[in-house]
Amino acid sequence: MDKSVRIVHFSDIHFTPRPQFIRSSYDEAVSVINNTPHDFAVFSGDLTQDGLIEEYELADTLRKAIISPKIYWIIGNHDSRSGGFEVWEKKVGPREFREYFDDVLFIGLDSCIPDQDGGRFGREALDYTKKILMKYGDAKLKLIGFHHHILPIPKTGRERSNAVDAGDMLSVLLDHNVDAVFTGHKHHPNVYKVEDTIIISAGSVSSYKTRSGGSRSFNYVEITPEKEVKVKIMKTNGDPIKNELKTITRRFRMVDSTGGIWLRLAQIAGTDFGTATNNQKELFQKGIDLINSTNPDLILHCGNMTSEGRTSDYESAVEAFLPYSDKLIFCPGPNDLRGFGETLLHKYFDIENTIEKNNSLFYVLNTSAPETEIGVVGRTTQHRLETYVYHTRQQSRDKFHTVVMHHHLIPIPGTRETSALEDAGDVLRLLSDTGVNLALSGHLGRAFCTRV
Ligand SMILES: [Fe+2]
Ligand SMILES: [Fe+2]
Repeated sequence: MDKSVRIVHFSDIHFTPRPQFIRSSYDEAVSVINNTPHDFAVFSGDLTQDGLIEEYELADTLRKAIISPKIYWIIGNHDSRSGGFEVWEKKVGPREFREYFDDVLFIGLDSCIPDQDGGRFGREALDYTKKILMKYGDAKLKLIGFHHHILPIPKTGRERSNAVDAGDMLSVLLDHNVDAVFTGHKHHPNVYKVEDTIIISAGSVSSYKTRSGGSRSFNYVEITPEKEVKVKIMKTNGDPIKNELKTITRRFRMVDSTGGIWLRLAQIAGTDFGTATNNQKELFQKGIDLINSTNPDLILHCGNMTSEGRTSDYESAVEAFLPYSDKLIFCPGPNDLRGFGETLLHKYFDIENTIEKNNSLFYVLNTSAPETEIGVVGRTTQHRLETYVYHTRQQSRDKFHTVVMHHHLIPIPGTRETSALEDAGDVLRLLSDTGVNLALSGHLGRAFCTRV
């Protein structure tokens, strides 16, 4: 690849004869796209409003107005409605495809479940993607498009319609060094860099549904031969909205200016005291011995210390952690709040919101509530965290900020995203905008680490 690749990325047209389709925005966007030199375009799903034949027919007519060397059309959940996924194959093309040209690999996937808003890739598609990425491992540029978002998007409220196996897909993308991912679905533009992979979400070109009074928009993406990715988010009239790129690495060390280590942190979760059999007690002892051998300054417990939040559970936990009480920072999980757990929690533990140690600040964010696995931070707490981080940043710029919580922000491979943090999109955006250095979580019992 000796020259930059220029891509127009647009999404969520929602063609329909009914008022949900805003024709003027579509015409405006098409005119800008037609005058924007590009190598190819990616449409990331929701071509129609309800997957109806009349909407596909309208799409047939109006799509002709777009002048582009090549467009990759990806199916969205609205297109799959009412059996529309079959019409898609007749009218638009295959729901899954790959193309390799000029050292560029493009894979298009169907992440939709017919008549459901949420998505799923499924084992077959994950294996297919891995196989293709291995086959074309030497491709200069590896690009993938699918409709559903895999990282939480800000301003999209209750996080409910992502792909349930987003963590598995994220792991495939990172393992095979995919350069860029194109998604749509939430009608809100957003860009993150996870490791070396850029994950780009487009807003909607012409749906009546926008977010936060936002504009209808599309993206212009340029990837240089050095793999620098520039994303320009544009209103349908071509005016720039803003250039957004936030970066998430698995490799990082907390060192001071002399290269010395500031703090050694041990992160644990799910000790589940209460149902402990002898075997579990042995396992805990082995684990805690291992942790001690690393001589940590702090042990950060990210929730579910107890199995059911009963008095006896808490008593066992307090006894087990007593030798380490001066090192322990604890953030409860949903198990700890079951029954009278919330009352017992405050009887046995002093849950402080903020803790300072060795020039590092720890913010304990309780995302759990009794009798639900689903987590939430809430707008008031988000605001408090934001104010706290900005305030302490003003006082000192070189403090290391860590948020300790139970629910995760980034989907975890090998899990199903059914009990995510409701407002993960807003919280991830807040942490990345305020420059929080580390977020630790402990939900779902699987270890995963990445950098945004
Ligand atoms: Fe949509
Ligand atoms: Fe959608």
